[in-house]
Amino acid sequence: MNDTTIAVPVRMKTRGPDRYQYLTQTGPGTPAGELLRSYWQPVAMIESLPSGAAPQPVRLLGEDLVLFRDDQDRVGLIDRKCAHRCTDLALGRIEDGGIRCPYHGWLFDVNGRCLEQPAEASPTAKDRIKMKSYPLHEAAGVFWAYLGRGEPPLFPNYPALQGGPEHCYVTRWLGECNWLQASEGNIDPVHTSFLHQLELTDPQMKARWGVFSNQARPELSIVDTCFGVRLYTRRAIADTDRLSVRVTNFVMPNACAVGGFEGYLGEGGLTMLWDVPIDDEHHYRWEFIFHRSGKLDKESLERQYSAEKAEGDRMWRRQEELYSQNRASMQGKAYAGLGECFSVHDIAITQAQGVVHQQANEHLSSTDIAIVRARRMLDEAVDDVMAGRDPRGVVRSPDQNDFRDMVVVTGEMGAAESKEEYCAKHAVPSLFAVQESV
Ligand code: FES
Ligand SMILES: [Fe+2]
Repeated sequence: MNDTTIAVPVRMKTRGPDRYQYLTQTGPGTPAGELLRSYWQPVAMIESLPSGAAPQPVRLLGEDLVLFRDDQDRVGLIDRKCAHRCTDLALGRIEDGGIRCPYHGWLFDVNGRCLEQPAEASPTAKDRIKMKSYPLHEAAGVFWAYLGRGEPPLFPNYPALQGGPEHCYVTRWLGECNWLQASEGNIDPVHTSFLHQLELTDPQMKARWGVFSNQARPELSIVDTCFGVRLYTRRAIADTDRLSVRVTNFVMPNACAVGGFEGYLGEGGLTMLWDVPIDDEHHYRWEFIFHRSGKLDKESLERQYSAEKAEGDRMWRRQEELYSQNRASMQGKAYAGLGECFSVHDIAITQAQGVVHQQANEHLSSTDIAIVRARRMLDEAVDDVMAGRDPRGVVRSPDQNDFRDMVVVTGEMGAAESKEEYCAKHAVPSLFAVQESV
């Protein structure tokens, strides 16, 4: 477990344009770092660590760790630096029920206990050694880690993490900027009409996904939920008395649940994203694309994503080359000239805000209400953590581990219809329940 003491908070004392800038700091002992450590975070694909695999270096929230699978198939996440004289355990040997340091042969198990010190005369000296280690959980094909203090909370029953691999496509991207600006991009519904606007030729798709080409001024509203913030975005549909409606969610503290493949596959699809700090200047964007009826076209997703990816989950488009923007395509096909992959749009545009976005330079507008609320909610949650309370969304009792009101809908409603009732209609247990036979 992490035994780092909480550092003196670095929070701004006065309200001002940069009151929440401290949320960008994520290392051990920082207030936001402690908040992020209060939740399970995705770490690595399970398939990246098969039996017999080499230990895998992991950098997470500014901590250098090593993920390894021992010779009895137990998986551990421990300090990367050997407890003896601090060399790199990513170079370690997997043998004898643990990972053995190649310098002097000390052997550590998945819980960070020292099992052997082969050159040490005292047989009990090893018992005084305990490496930092973190609990792991496996879900949706991914190892998740809890870097917080005390007992880990329950792993949240989010719909997108239920079901087997046939229901969920998982990928991750390296983002070369702070986690917070990336996360805020996910709860900014207006950008879909601009940044992601593509030419839709198919009339059915146009009707369904008009949100990506309809620049009508949306009516935004938000409401607090047990897990974060629900966002309603409604836009007038031209020449009708109907509204297009999207219901999306900010999920504390660094995730969101947004539209997915329900447009193609019908109800029951959503995507969850996590923006997980590697350190204050880098993060991984994890994508969990879920559909309950399991008909995701993974091959085409794979094709689309691999066409945009380079080594190490980076995109091949480089900031120094203005992301290879195609200005000719901006005359109709693609609003931003950055191809058709939404992930690429999001990563490029948030990286372009600067490595660590400076909130003092912003001029927030009425379309940023969810971002403002999310910052305040994170700030309130930091207070909870500092006071020793569980922050919003952390669940410890099974009967509270229920997120069926994490409603994600892209649809249409009558102008006079109540959005709350519309949403409630979709908050049914069956909406995202995995359906093997469909
Ligand atoms: S540095 Fe690891 S055993 Fe000596
Ligand atoms: Fe986006």
